[in-house]
Amino acid sequence: MAPAPSPPALETRDLTIRFGGHVAVDAVNCAFHPGTLTAIVGPNGAGKTTYFNLISGQLRPTDGQVLVRGEDVTGLTAAARTRRGLGRAFQLTNLFPGLTVRENIRLVVQSRRGAGMDLLSRAARRTDLVDEADAVLARMSLAGRRDDLAGALPHGDQRKLEVAMLAALEPDVFMFDEPTAGMSVDEVPTILDLIRRIKETTDKTVLLVEHKMDVVRQLADRIIVLHNGALVADGEPAEVIASPIVQEAYLGGAIEHA
Ligand SMILES: Nc1ncnc2c1ncn2[C@@H]1O[C@H](COP(=O)(O)OP(=O)(O)O)[C@@H](O)[C@H]1O
Ligand SMILES: [Mg+2]
Repeated sequence: MAPAPSPPALETRDLTIRFGGHVAVDAVNCAFHPGTLTAIVGPNGAGKTTYFNLISGQLRPTDGQVLVRGEDVTGLTAAARTRRGLGRAFQLTNLFPGLTVRENIRLVVQSRRGAGMDLLSRAARRTDLVDEADAVLARMSLAGRRDDLAGALPHGDQRKLEVAMLAALEPDVFMFDEPTAGMSVDEVPTILDLIRRIKETTDKTVLLVEHKMDVVRQLADRIIVLHNGALVADGEPAEVIASPIVQEAYLGGAIEHA
């Protein structure tokens, strides 16, 4: 007998949320598999961030399910979903600005290992945690910044630290919501390189909301398009970019044609 096919890393079934009369995410059915990077595109207000909020557990759906490796996690908190391997990119608000870059990374490593967040001083002597934090910093090209205070980093390095913290969490599913937004043109390639490294060196599942079509074309194995909350296209990048709906509805306007 053939072995049962392994379930997708992540799946949404008829995932829907209404805000009053407005359907922000409209019955989205989609499965995401290990070793793939899926770009999620669509104009502002299409529902991309709301879709992420439903997946990570910041919002509860009106209808539908979120499944992680086949397990229904719709009723679980965001923290419980993180423990099951869903990793949402850290935002600046999740950093400890008064701690160094290395300490911030070490706290993530420590929390992943379940050591608790109140052991900062004792953990400083736990060289394995520090070694692991340093390995992440080296991989993320942040070793030179490790003793700088997170709050004092230039904007581009703070964004790199956000990606590094997510990498330190070692989730199965990486979710990036416009990771290059607000970055200067010369900083963008560094962030993309970090995401590419995650994609190329691991069997992780990556979801990337990104407006820059050149970026999407370079990184994505697949593109899905959201429009008014609904999934309106799904396929290989070249095919989706060439599709009439993307050409007509997006490339002329809402999505930057870089
Ligand atoms: N908490 C909320 N309450 C009411 N409306 C919301 C809320 N969050 C998002 N929306 C609405 O849902 C729609 C989708 O928003 P969003 O997911 O942020 O779009 P995108 O990330 O694609 O730009 C928008 O019309 C937005 O105004
Ligand atoms: Mg958004």
